[in-house]
Amino acid sequence: MTGVSQPIGVFDSGYGGLTILRELVRKLPQYDYVYLGDNARTPYGTRSFETVYQYTLECVRHLFDQGCRLVILACNTASAKALRNIQQLDLPKMDGPDRRVLGVIRPTTEVIGTYSQTGQVGVLATRGTVTSESYVVEIEKFFPELRVFQEACPMWVPLVENGEYTSPGADYFVRQHIDRLLTQAPGIDTILLACTHYPLLLDKIRQFTPAGTTILSQGGIVADSLADYLFRHPALEAECSKHGRRTFLTTDSPVDFDRQATVFYGEQIQSRHLAL
Ligand code: DGL
Repeated sequence: MTGVSQPIGVFDSGYGGLTILRELVRKLPQYDYVYLGDNARTPYGTRSFETVYQYTLECVRHLFDQGCRLVILACNTASAKALRNIQQLDLPKMDGPDRRVLGVIRPTTEVIGTYSQTGQVGVLATRGTVTSESYVVEIEKFFPELRVFQEACPMWVPLVENGEYTSPGADYFVRQHIDRLLTQAPGIDTILLACTHYPLLLDKIRQFTPAGTTILSQGGIVADSLADYLFRHPALEAECSKHGRRTFLTTDSPVDFDRQATVFYGEQIQSRHLAL
């Protein structure tokens, strides 16, 4: 142990990653976590590869400055568009201790095939994640026999961010995208919510999905994967500080963040502003 606080960093474009952090804390409560939401520049889902990469890298550097050695990109869009570059180009050039950045796509694609009987799975995500084809490429590595069908749902993040996720108005857009996905392949029996905002729409998604369909949220999967990763990297695990502390940072207004965060995280939090 170095005696220096080394929390686990959790990054998202805004609030969505709190649905992942919630499960990390549930499964691994002993660790310290620093959450950073880039609310000032959200959404990422509609932005170019280069922009998402630059924004994500900047935020990852801030989390390293907070003492993190391990950062989880709890955002599918950032995982799809920035993770590989950060891992391959940026981390090797950084001075100081060995640092790691992990995403949410790999843990999910490692297990998705175990849920499907028909061999047909659906992926619902932002336009950025869908066009990156990251899920199609990664699933092919672990489950080459699986057929993957994608649908971008650009209205879903705004519905959630504007508190409309339980409103009757949301039905139209939820149904529209579920129908479009299932029209591609009626045999789809497993649907992955590959955007951290979508678990808030789970009740509505169930309502418009055939009974028996498995709807997968990522939080629990990512938490299991992190537990396994830390087990396989005991030196890194020993460095992670374990006081059960949670720190919340936002690039926008902490007042707004604290008000909105509860629905994603499940409990009241207090955030601080981080100037980029
Ligand atoms: N959190 C992002 C994801 O999981 C979606 C929100 C955004 O577009 O910024 O893809």
